[in-house]
Amino acid sequence: MELSKRLSRLPPYLFVEINQKIADLQAKGKDVINFGVGDPDLPTPSHIIEKLCQAAHDPANHRYPETGGLPELREAIADWYAGRFGVQLDPIKEVLPLVGSKEGISHMALCFIEPGELALVPDPGYPPFSMGTILAGGEPYSMPLKEDNDFLPDFEAIPGEVADKAKLMWINYPNNPTGAIAGLDFFERAVHFAQRHDLAICHDAPYTEVAFDGYKPPSFMQIPGAKKTGVEFHSLSKTYHMTGWRIGMVVGNADMVGALFKIKSNLDSGVPQAIQYAAVEALRDSQEHIAKHNVVFQRRRNELAKALDEVGLIARMPKATFYIWSRIPQGYTSIDFTKELLDEVGIAVTPGVGYGKGGEGHIRFSLTISDERLSEGVNRLLTWRRRRR
Ligand SMILES: Cc1ncc(COP(=O)(O)O)c(C=O)c1O
Repeated sequence: MELSKRLSRLPPYLFVEINQKIADLQAKGKDVINFGVGDPDLPTPSHIIEKLCQAAHDPANHRYPETGGLPELREAIADWYAGRFGVQLDPIKEVLPLVGSKEGISHMALCFIEPGELALVPDPGYPPFSMGTILAGGEPYSMPLKEDNDFLPDFEAIPGEVADKAKLMWINYPNNPTGAIAGLDFFERAVHFAQRHDLAICHDAPYTEVAFDGYKPPSFMQIPGAKKTGVEFHSLSKTYHMTGWRIGMVVGNADMVGALFKIKSNLDSGVPQAIQYAAVEALRDSQEHIAKHNVVFQRRRNELAKALDEVGLIARMPKATFYIWSRIPQGYTSIDFTKELLDEVGIAVTPGVGYGKGGEGHIRFSLTISDERLSEGVNRLLTWRRRRR
């Protein structure tokens, strides 16, 4: 049996590896505080689950869904975008539900990238931007996200011939893993850059609703011209704590949405309909729990940021996302430092290098664990610090 070469080009998925190490430690009886994966601990609001249960009882929802999703869902997505961002979308041509946004993100490269062609990806960045490119036979070209540029890519630093050759550009704000945000001015520059070099833009925006201190992240689709050059991926995962239900969406440029629809109609049969009805409920019903969730994450952010400061780990206070991107002490790699925290005090974090070379020198903490576990994690960080003195 000979597996494809493309498989050997993929590194093991970081979270799978980390979860295995955590599971091994737990099997040996060690209590691990997991600041690793960004998966909300707070449950899906109950009215959404009630809708899901009702819909699951209806035999009409026991059959294959359509790849394109229910018209009710496409309309609910378009209305949500209009209400939240003032963006008008055609629910038929400019909206497509996804089996979680990761699915659409990973498949998008198949719409653009021929073997050997380039996609511009943020470094550090959410791994599927690069992995989707590699699976399509292409080459990810790193756009470094540096702290002194507020973790935004510097478009001027990309050689003109690279930008001309590239087909796609990935951007993501509020950003995973850095927690950085971008304003409409940045999105405008991205659109101009893309137009100059005939690039398609994919903006990945699952964290627009996870924000603090009164900040309201904008949508890339608010830029006039965004629809001509790109799409935005969004998700119900982080907004409504629905990571387990697997439902997201892509909106924007009708040709790009149509191209992804064509790929998907050959790969999957859409999102189970009961989950689509639950998503309609989430998007259309009261949004007040979003603010309540953010109060919890903001409190956790404050507590962890204070502790990081006390133990000498330097981190910016994020205005959005449930991540804190912290520098590590001199003399460690991010993997060594992650191992030290795990082995010495039973704290799991994500090593920055897992998001690309540009993530080296950092680790990511996720705030998606209970208040009690977070406080225990803070105590353990202080213990780690005392032992190092
Ligand atoms: C930047 C980013 N994009 C997309 C996703 C995937 O979300 P979904 O659950 O919709 O697949 C994640 C999940 O962690 C993410 O961090």
